[in-house]
Amino acid sequence: MNYFDQNDERLKQDILTLAEMINEEVEGYTRRPFTKWYEQSREWLADEMKKCGLDVQIDAASNLIGKLEGKNKDLRPIMIGSHTDTVTGGGRFDGIIGVLAGIEIARQLKEKKIELEHPLWVVDFTAEEPSEFGISTIGSRGMVDNLSDEMLQREDPNGLKLYEGIQMAGGRPEDISHKALKQGDVALYLELHIEQGPVLEQTNHDIGVVTGIVGIQRYQIVVNGQPNHAGTTPMNMRFDALTGASELVLAVEKIANQPYEEQVVGTVGRLFNEPNGSNVVPGKVVFDVELRSLSTKVIEQMVEQISAEVEKVVAKRNLSISVDKLSESDPIIVSEEVCQGIEASAKVVGSTLKLPSGAGHDANQLARIAPIGMIFVPSKDGKSHCPEEWTDYEQVAKGVQALGNALVHFDKNLIKIKQ
Ligand code: HGY
Ligand code: MN
Ligand code: MN
Repeated sequence: MNYFDQNDERLKQDILTLAEMINEEVEGYTRRPFTKWYEQSREWLADEMKKCGLDVQIDAASNLIGKLEGKNKDLRPIMIGSHTDTVTGGGRFDGIIGVLAGIEIARQLKEKKIELEHPLWVVDFTAEEPSEFGISTIGSRGMVDNLSDEMLQREDPNGLKLYEGIQMAGGRPEDISHKALKQGDVALYLELHIEQGPVLEQTNHDIGVVTGIVGIQRYQIVVNGQPNHAGTTPMNMRFDALTGASELVLAVEKIANQPYEEQVVGTVGRLFNEPNGSNVVPGKVVFDVELRSLSTKVIEQMVEQISAEVEKVVAKRNLSISVDKLSESDPIIVSEEVCQGIEASAKVVGSTLKLPSGAGHDANQLARIAPIGMIFVPSKDGKSHCPEEWTDYEQVAKGVQALGNALVHFDKNLIKIKQ
């Protein structure tokens, strides 16, 4: 049965309100963490949480958490969360609908006087998207004690240290480790998210039951050559960092296009060329390589091949090249019980399809301490991380209804879930 309404009108207003709190100097929808637009959105979210009776707190990692007591004081919370930060030039739905879903469900629990056995925590995780610190899922990493001191000391290009950013967002970095949640502290984590891919739309399904989430490894490659005059330096006397880097960028694509036992993707999305002058032979190039798969073994196979390509470019072009790991998250397989519970809860809402997630999520981090489940709603033309990102409000409302049904289902049946 459906315990909640499909309140697409209220969800539409919430989405439109948050879509206003953006850096308008940038094309698309941009709300980066640790900015005034992020602070503004956080204040609005906290207000909406308070209005529906949630006890609002900022945890040590600066995550915004709205808590609702359950009838049974001995039970650990069921957590519903996601993120409201965006990529630069992103969309209005990625992460955002997952946090708004938690607030909408809390509103309807109050309006319908539904009392849960478990406490309910609604969480807006800080900085889920890859940050200028080279790390993603910052808040959820902090919540589960997966943020190292080295990471906290990292600086962004403006010299802001990650721990300072967390302080700015209301966190207490010094408490992250000893306040972190451990195995058993959370009964279940559930997240509603846009698919960010074409499958649900192309197969004409309303709800995605996520069966697994890819692991992601990110590396920074620095290619050092010799800057020189573009007019007077003969071609055979150059140490061109950009042509060397370009060989490696194409090698990543070639390696990711090879067949493996699991699907893979490999991307170079961020590259800086120095000194970046049209009449200067490039002296230094810094770029990120991102590799994803449901299999860590396959990612490691790709890393090995990329390292071999680096050696070849060093020898051929007499450049110096370093490769450093920036971050990694493990692939997650969702438990059969959780998939079945979500599928049963979603079937009363619309047509369902089981599928893996090619995007990473805060769920990757929560899976370190609790059973997790995810629900997808369709993305128009499969687009995301761009202004064209779109999901009909009615589709979002169906996802929220399925999530609410799943919450009530697991609130009654959780004891049987093993992680
Ligand atoms: O990059 C991702 O997979 C997610 O959208 N943060
Ligand atoms: Mn994203
Ligand atoms: Mn996301």
